[in-house]
Amino acid sequence: MTRLIWLALSLVIAVPLAANDGISSRRQQELSNILVQDCGSCHGLTMRGGLGPALLPDALSGKSAEAISAVIMNGRPGSAMPPWRALLSPAEARWMADILLSGELQ
Ligand code: HEC
Repeated sequence: MTRLIWLALSLVIAVPLAANDGISSRRQQELSNILVQDCGSCHGLTMRGGLGPALLPDALSGKSAEAISAVIMNGRPGSAMPPWRALLSPAEARWMADILLSGELQ
């Protein structure tokens, strides 16, 4: 019985962490601001495209979160897309890719 309670408790604790890769809600807010202000300066404030292509779910369909986060970390050499690895951890780039694919960015 005690084991069951521990199992239930660990699920309650583990699920929210897994859902956001352990990125604090404060850092998630900062990452959202980077998406709108920095990424948005090239991709459009609403991600509909500008100097860079649109980053809306439709435009990214068929691309994996791994591929998108790799572009965010490494940039696209020979284009205006800069690398962000100095500012973002791999988990943070992946979080951004998931947000872009889900269209949840406000
Ligand atoms: C200085 C302008 C600029 C900034 C700032 C910028 N990008 Fe880009 N981005 C581009 C350009 C230009 C491309 C297209 C590169 C090419 O020709 O393949 C691109 C491509 C991409 C792609 C690939 C899209 C696809 O369809 O394959 C992703 C994803 C992306 N950017 C995400 C981001 C994110 C996230 C940020 C902010 C962390 C960001 N970009 C900031 C200019 C920019």
